[in-house]
Amino acid sequence: MTQKIIKNGTIVTASDTYQADLLIEDEQIALIGQGLAIEGAEIVDASGCYVFPGGIDPHTHLEMPFGGTVSKDDFETGTIAAAFGGTTSLIDFCITRKGETLKNPIKEWHAKSKDKAVIDYGFHLMISEINENVLNELPSILEDEGITSFKVFMAYKNVFQADDGTLFQTLKTAKELGALVMVHAENGDVIDYLVNEALEAGNTDPIYHALTRPPEAEGEATSRATELTGLANSQLYVVHVSCDESAQKIKAAREKGYDVWGETCPQYLVLDQSYMEKPNFEGAKYVWSPPLREKWNQEKLWMALKNGYLQTIGSDQCSFDFKGQKDLGIDDFTKIPNGGPMIEDRFSILFSEGVKKGRITLNQFVDITSTRSAKLFGLYPKKGTIAVGSDADIVIFDPNVERTISVDTHHMAVDYNAFEGMEITGEPVTVFSRGEFVIRDKQFVGKLGAGNYLKRARYCDMLTNNSDKLTV
Ligand code: URP
Ligand code: ZN
Ligand code: ZN
Repeated sequence: MTQKIIKNGTIVTASDTYQADLLIEDEQIALIGQGLAIEGAEIVDASGCYVFPGGIDPHTHLEMPFGGTVSKDDFETGTIAAAFGGTTSLIDFCITRKGETLKNPIKEWHAKSKDKAVIDYGFHLMISEINENVLNELPSILEDEGITSFKVFMAYKNVFQADDGTLFQTLKTAKELGALVMVHAENGDVIDYLVNEALEAGNTDPIYHALTRPPEAEGEATSRATELTGLANSQLYVVHVSCDESAQKIKAAREKGYDVWGETCPQYLVLDQSYMEKPNFEGAKYVWSPPLREKWNQEKLWMALKNGYLQTIGSDQCSFDFKGQKDLGIDDFTKIPNGGPMIEDRFSILFSEGVKKGRITLNQFVDITSTRSAKLFGLYPKKGTIAVGSDADIVIFDPNVERTISVDTHHMAVDYNAFEGMEITGEPVTVFSRGEFVIRDKQFVGKLGAGNYLKRARYCDMLTNNSDKLTV
């Protein structure tokens, strides 16, 4: 048995902040107390640092085929960058194809990740159609694969977009199975109309990506999805909420008593639509969906996090090089692959801009970056908290170091950083995944393939605190 003691740090969970030492035995937290001393245990000094539960990124697209290319960061570079950024678990989207058994893409996602991931990971399953075959397959996917969340795209017409009937049937099926439905909420048909109108008028620059996907298209789709959730008496998680229109729809649904949750992303909290007007096609670096919004939305999103009608932060990591990938759309914004590199900076940006600037508390920070996702996606209390018996997924975080985000120092595989030049405070120093060092004194010391696949509990079991179902 290996033993490590993290000494002199301040432990922070979603509910408490206190000074204590923490004993790790093999993969788990074994003891929390004052002045722990055990002969032979390795001592890790956390003086002046916070000791956080490892971040959980509920929304990534690693090595994802999209927009005529494949996202650049894979399960190797993506999970290494995630670990540098304080994330110790992520959930990636397994993209399915109509007319095919769901088992094939799941196999593909296992093959992409198994020997590469340096931290633990799970999959959400994209649903693009509901038919007899899909209905027959789903129970075993929950049971055997532990994939307990389904994703429906309401946008990307003729690519991923599902119709309302499919969304409604997915919601009904998820209710029966105890799964959580996730939606990309934008009105794909209206966007398609606006895009054609822009192209016909000769408007091809990156900014037209934003102008053809207005906030109303997101607000409308969010409202439609929440109402269908109410009608199906089901459960919904709205991914990447970018604007007040959408956040307000989630708030309204929650006030009606609907079981609706919302996620935003760091990019919507700190960047705005003007970035897409950068000259020399640089605006393409900021093309993702939903698009960046007018700046005033940022404070609205912070308020939504503070007041709890948005509950989580995902990175929506889907990175493409500026040169060789984003430039597929140099003459036509619709050909710019949608997505950006955010996996590494998600945790620290939320700390610096959120906690340091007084917008959220330290405990809310932990809830938003880790605990809430663990609860919603069937990982709690194995993941998402610091408690005896939980996995020792831990971040020792220096809250005072000042640094500048840059492509020159990041660990993602892409040739730019969306937050280039941003000055932030706070940085993960040492990161453990199930008791093993992955990052030690800001150096990567993990192993490819050390990350475990996470079979997750069902949403309905989390609701009833049926945590015995969490043993995997
Ligand atoms: O532009 C984005 N967000 N790309 C990834 C796919 C998605 O819509 O989440
Ligand atoms: Zn999306
Ligand atoms: Zn996404």
